[in-house]
Amino acid sequence: MRTLFLFVAITLPLPAVEDFATRLYPALQKAQCRLCHNDNGVASATRLQFPRASATSQEIDRFGLRLRSLVNRAHPEESLLFRKPTNRIPHTGGERIKPGSPEEQALRAWVEYLASLPEAPLEAERATGPSRKTLRRLTNSQYNHTVRDLLGDETGPADRFPTEDFVNGYTNQAEGQSISPLLAEAYGRAAERLARAAFSGGDSHKLIPCAPSAGCRADFIRQFGRRAFRRPLTDGEIARYERVFAARDANFLDGARLVVETMLQSPHFLFHLSTGAYATANRLSYFLWDTMPDEELFHAAESGQLSSAQGIEKQVKRLLDNPRAADSFDEFLAQWMRFDRLRNAIRDRRLFPEFTAELVSAMTEETQRLFRSLVWQDRNFLEFFTADYAYLTPELAKLYGVPSPGEPWARVDFSAGSPRAGVLGEGTYLAVTSKPADTSPTERGLFVREHFLCQIVPPPPAGVNTSLPPVTDEKPLSTRERLQAHLSNPTCASCHILVDSIGFGLEKFDAIGKFREKQEVTIYPTADELKLRKKIKPTEYKLDIEGVGTVRGLQDSEFRSARELGRRLAREPVCQKCIVKQLFRYANGRSEEPEDQPLIEQAYNRFRDSQFRFRELVLAIVSSMD
Ligand code: HEC
Ligand code: HEC
Repeated sequence: MRTLFLFVAITLPLPAVEDFATRLYPALQKAQCRLCHNDNGVASATRLQFPRASATSQEIDRFGLRLRSLVNRAHPEESLLFRKPTNRIPHTGGERIKPGSPEEQALRAWVEYLASLPEAPLEAERATGPSRKTLRRLTNSQYNHTVRDLLGDETGPADRFPTEDFVNGYTNQAEGQSISPLLAEAYGRAAERLARAAFSGGDSHKLIPCAPSAGCRADFIRQFGRRAFRRPLTDGEIARYERVFAARDANFLDGARLVVETMLQSPHFLFHLSTGAYATANRLSYFLWDTMPDEELFHAAESGQLSSAQGIEKQVKRLLDNPRAADSFDEFLAQWMRFDRLRNAIRDRRLFPEFTAELVSAMTEETQRLFRSLVWQDRNFLEFFTADYAYLTPELAKLYGVPSPGEPWARVDFSAGSPRAGVLGEGTYLAVTSKPADTSPTERGLFVREHFLCQIVPPPPAGVNTSLPPVTDEKPLSTRERLQAHLSNPTCASCHILVDSIGFGLEKFDAIGKFREKQEVTIYPTADELKLRKKIKPTEYKLDIEGVGTVRGLQDSEFRSARELGRRLAREPVCQKCIVKQLFRYANGRSEEPEDQPLIEQAYNRFRDSQFRFRELVLAIVSSMD
């Protein structure tokens, strides 16, 4: 393929292929085409599909050449690739490239270049998947669990690491896992402290398998190293760590401590790097247990059990029957539902005095209890959206206005006319998508699109003022009315209609999930008004709420309550498939690519055919793991 590039570059005086990667591609990145033009974007049905953000230079070169399908050879100026992004032909994405700009020049040059290429298909145009090998490191929670199992250390040292970025909805995604200097430093400090603690009371955690003597060194290194690196060490590695040990030879425990400290800073500990059967063992273990393999799984790897589908399934079932699996899937749930954002949420105390840390923790536990009951009691997972019952504390029952449970966390059944059902009626969802003083229909709709339909809505264009007009005594407007103004502006409506119209149907739930018939708006006097004695007391309004929503793009999707929306989502294949995609992302540490589609489809079929048993989905996802 390189030869082809060379040939082209030599025979044509036009821009060299490399120009795409250095000139046009950065301009297209900056213009944010990928936001819509990707497999999960609003332009997923068009011929323009950007490679993932972490694409290799080779993938970028190929992509550049494949754009030929959008070029008009006879009349390059007429090419969609040129006329759409400049909005010369009306483009849903708007004018992304300014006529007359250097970016446009680069685009024009590339379009002309593509038009000039020989007609025969280019090698780059053949479908080849992007390379799927991705380098992932332990997430903070995997780090904590691994040192717990490796060293018996329960102090959760990674809780003090820099906070992790959410990419594709999760913290374990290769794309989001750079190692900053700050993190490298934190690794060093943790390694030192963990190694010291491991031997602070002698060999209290039984890390040394033999009587401390010169002959025991290599055994210790081999045994501890196999667990720390989750694979056997090579002879070269054993020799290297023997030299590390020898630096502190005077005292066996000091030598051992230095080995532990050094290994904990090695990429082989910090990253998922093993290959072959050990890679399989590690993937299963980190996916299903969020921690390193246990001895039995190591044995399965060593005895060849993991080379057959049946052998893998047997181990998966064993791992799933262990309580650790519940921990790992709790972590999946916590990230999918963004518990972290709820825990950091603030609410105006004057308006929501009951919104305390205890209430927040009860909310996330409620979601977790529903999730756990569906997953571990083998129920139909779509009840996540439709359950007309909940596990509640008396405080939550009071907030929701339903009968108190006999004892904390007992099941409460909702009445037939209840507006609540499933996760959409829970405080977790309703509060995580709200603002300090009120709901945000935009955020509620966005959450449904991204988390439950796996559709990405691009962020607002730069320079858009995203604060709503203030409510004033002259014009006390409901949130819906305030947002309505944007929907009448076509530039804003293209995105906002997709999200706001979902949130409008949930307006009868306030910013902490309480039911309300009216939107109460309190307007406090400003400092100036107080000073001038223009207004002394807050004024209060009770505004009507229409409470009707729709999910644009889904047929028959008008709804008037969380219960109705939940039912609609539950019978929607896009939503059902989204559950598959979410678990796929969590399991593989990356977003699904076009070539994963058959696997997703297979997993989806197995999930659906089992009447949506989560365990079946897990088994299906495991067999799709790379
Ligand atoms: C906000 C979302 C969005 C953004 C951002 C966006 N587009 Fe689009 N684009 C669309 C949609 C939706 C369509 C299909 C409907 C249409 O043609 O307008 C489309 C269509 C196109 C087409 C026609 C594709 C075909 O198969 O016919 C081209 C070419 C295109 N866009 C180029 C671009 C480029 C280049 C950029 C970045 C500079 C960009 N778009 C940014 C949403 C977007
Ligand atoms: C390309 C899609 C897109 C376009 C176009 C767009 N927005 Fe947005 N807007 C969003 C998204 C996504 C959010 C929510 C996330 C955020 O705030 O970043 C948002 C949030 C907002 C919010 C905050 C609402 C809330 O409750 O948090 C306001 C206000 C807003 N946009 C106004 C506008 C206006 C006015 C325009 C037109 C001038 C506009 N937007 C155009 C996508 C868009």
